[in-house]
Amino acid sequence: MVHIRPLAAADRPAIDGIARACGAFTPDEVRVCMELVDDALAGSMEYEVVVADDGGPVGFLTFGTDAIGKGVWEVYWIVTRAERRGRGIGSALLGWLHDRLAGTGARMVLIETSGQPGYEHQRRFYEKNGYREVARVKDFYKPEDDLVVFRRDLDPAPARRRA
Ligand SMILES: CC(C)(COP(=O)(O)OP(=O)(O)OC[C@H]1O[C@@H](n2cnc3c(N)ncnc32)[C@H](O)[C@@H]1OP(=O)(O)O)[C@@H](O)C(=O)NCCC(=O)NCCS
Repeated sequence: MVHIRPLAAADRPAIDGIARACGAFTPDEVRVCMELVDDALAGSMEYEVVVADDGGPVGFLTFGTDAIGKGVWEVYWIVTRAERRGRGIGSALLGWLHDRLAGTGARMVLIETSGQPGYEHQRRFYEKNGYREVARVKDFYKPEDDLVVFRRDLDPAPARRRA
């Protein structure tokens, strides 16, 4: 059964393999993703990584708090191993994050993605998980490849709900 847990140093080769094989990232993007993983392993307060584990990593999520926006969190990379997609692992990773942030003062989570047709399933995945498109920067990644920003609002004080 898949469970979500913090990243461990021993996960690095598996995470690197999942990122390389995911089919959505350029070599430069994999490098940036792994720099973030290495920062997290080195104890960075800026980045966190959690792993979806099913007898070994089958997915991961990297995220962090925005340096300037108060209560704003960002998802940087989310990946499910290709042969395990469509079975709720990505949604479980985002659900874990939403639970983790509940009641901490976090107000919103932002995710950036591409507007290209090839990223349609990522955009649908974010919408399925409660995100909505809030901004678009035309031709950001390259001509005809927009940056699309998705946002999910969080209740910063869910203690009210527990009362
Ligand atoms: C985006 C991603 C993390 C989703 O992970 P997942 O474990 O498949 O997510 P879930 O199973 O929770 O949800 C899958 C949803 O994605 C959408 N989807 C569309 N095409 C899909 C496909 N070929 N495979 C899987 N999901 C697909 C559907 O909306 C599906 O919802 P449904 O179950 O109601 O049909 C995964 O597809 C992935 O790793 N993609 C490559 C890496 C990437 O692009 N990451 C995002 C940028 S950092």
